[in-house]
Amino acid sequence: MSVLLPIRLGLNIDHVATIRNARGGAAPDPVRAAMLAVEAGVDGITAHLREDRRHIRDDDMARLKLEISKPLNFEMAATEEMKSIALRVKPHAACLVPEKREERTTEGGLNVVGHHNQLKPYIAELNSAGIRVSLFIEPDARAIETAKALNAPVIELHTGTYCEAMHDGHQNKIDLEFERLQKAAELAGRLGLEVHAGHGLDFATAEKLAEIPEIRELNIGHFIIGEAIFIGLHQSIIQMRAAIDAGRARARPRA
Ligand code: PXP
Repeated sequence: MSVLLPIRLGLNIDHVATIRNARGGAAPDPVRAAMLAVEAGVDGITAHLREDRRHIRDDDMARLKLEISKPLNFEMAATEEMKSIALRVKPHAACLVPEKREERTTEGGLNVVGHHNQLKPYIAELNSAGIRVSLFIEPDARAIETAKALNAPVIELHTGTYCEAMHDGHQNKIDLEFERLQKAAELAGRLGLEVHAGHGLDFATAEKLAEIPEIRELNIGHFIIGEAIFIGLHQSIIQMRAAIDAGRARARPRA
């Protein structure tokens, strides 16, 4: 790798829909938030259509595809129902995530090793429909090698444990988790996979992760939407963009 490309910022708008659904009705509209976010400079919009439709709904997905000018990343569980919706909506990308009904948010990465045989034809179908498949996995060598064997062009590294360590402030754990992410990204890059990362990121953690040369995209939701309460969505995105660019400026290509 000789020249480092800038990092794309994908905004996850699920929690705009969470607020809307708390009252029913149509406001706040996640599609309006997505359009504002595009104006503020995000490179893509991510939305997770969960099995229980707790935030994003089917019509949000269809409207996002129709109305936004940037790539749509459809986060989904690897179920038959979600596959048929994805094949109908035709998003730019599909990020396959594990999903448990009782969890508050996506806990842990997808078990790609254990579900290899089911995932292989599933991914092949999305690939042949021209949807870029990404697998949301733990920063673990076996998971990365399996993603490669499954013909997924992209992996998204789960950054939740690293972000929790930063929150707890235990330096040993922070260093260990950062190193895990670094090694995972390096291996994925060597295997020719595109590397994305996300979950739990804030300004500080996104800036730090941007130093990892293989990372090409960060997908961030909860923090940016939360920060928007205080400084507005536009400013929240501008500050995140600046944090990521500052981290990227310190990144060095691998020798
Ligand atoms: N990437 C993936 C695959 C996710 O499941 C999530 C959470 O929905 C995110 C990124 C964004 O995480 P957060 O909302 O914590 O920024």
